[in-house]
Amino acid sequence: LGNGLANTPQMGWNSWNYFRCDFDEKVIKETVDALVTTGLAKLGYNYVNIDDCWAEPTRNSEGKIVPDSKSFPSGVKDLADYIHSKGLKLGIYSDAGLYTCQIRPGSLKHEYDDAALFASWGVDYLKYDNCFNLGIEPEERYPPMRDALNATGRTIFYSLCEWGVNNPALWASKIGNSWRTTDDIEDSWESMTTIADINNKWAAYAGPGGWNDPDMLEVGNGGMTFEEYRGHFSIWALMKAPLIIGCDVRNMTAETYDILTNEEVISVNQVFLNDLLTPPSSSVIFANEISSDPLGVQGKKVDSYGPDGCYQIWAGPLSEQRFVLALWNRCSKPSTITANWGAIGLESSTTVSVRDLWKHKYVSLNSATSFSAHVDAHACEMYILAPVAAARSAS
Ligand code: DGJ
Repeated sequence: LGNGLANTPQMGWNSWNYFRCDFDEKVIKETVDALVTTGLAKLGYNYVNIDDCWAEPTRNSEGKIVPDSKSFPSGVKDLADYIHSKGLKLGIYSDAGLYTCQIRPGSLKHEYDDAALFASWGVDYLKYDNCFNLGIEPEERYPPMRDALNATGRTIFYSLCEWGVNNPALWASKIGNSWRTTDDIEDSWESMTTIADINNKWAAYAGPGGWNDPDMLEVGNGGMTFEEYRGHFSIWALMKAPLIIGCDVRNMTAETYDILTNEEVISVNQVFLNDLLTPPSSSVIFANEISSDPLGVQGKKVDSYGPDGCYQIWAGPLSEQRFVLALWNRCSKPSTITANWGAIGLESSTTVSVRDLWKHKYVSLNSATSFSAHVDAHACEMYILAPVAAARSAS
């Protein structure tokens, strides 16, 4: 695609998972303010994305899409100016079909005019949906909008929302900055784990510039337990998924806030945190464990055992010879879960330091061939492993 964006997965917020069609410019501005005052913006959540329902049902007499006069009376340009004044970016939504899923105008065959309009408003991101598509293959419908966005001269992130139709990992990296690998996420354990498994199949196709998108976060929306949401966030970070918050950030619980602001987990997904994270003074030789990850490799499920393989080991390489490791207990009983070096990709007998990203401390390692920990039912523990020799030579 070559627009220079998405060196790391995009981060931000989107209206759909929590608000559906029930939001207006006041809600968006309050959300922007909350992203700033909670510190979420500083952690990298910088795209504020308006999903379906922002537009009037029909185009105006000049053929232009018009913001809904009741919910967006001040228009999108005004909102973009507000968002930019806070140092954030605005995302908007349209559809590669006749209509959006909620029956607002779609951009099929209007790509150049609509892209130019969005650019004139100062839009920084487009999520492009898949409803009312006339049965035309996504491979045909999504490139015209890429070309139209490029032609605007404005740099606009292009997020494909083709619901995984025709295995987009195989063709979308030349078209968009991210592509959905699945149907819509729901706020349930069943949906979240199913989606993780589907997205996992396409790990090899993600990388800087273009990412697999297993859909937006449900953390904070109430349908899962704290432990389940922690797993959701951990696995999305490890899979190099876009981290797009989908809850009402104006009213977060402390637990939701704790999850979404875990800098160590975010650092597995991103590179920008280098200057925010200071190494613990007691273990200076491990300083490079806390740096973030420019490598951009999607971690995956590397081992599983137990009933239906519900004791799971997810891992992936990070920069500086480090590895991220998640022990994910998808069984209904607590258990010790063991990750063997072979499964993770570590050479046998490698001594590593083990940083627990949820407890925010180094934990001891009792073996040079595996790592084990107790994991509650439906919980997920997450670590960064750094070979000790490598850490020393880099310090
Ligand atoms: C389907 C998409 O997959 C969702 O994320 C959301 O954008 C809705 N459409 C909006 O109608």
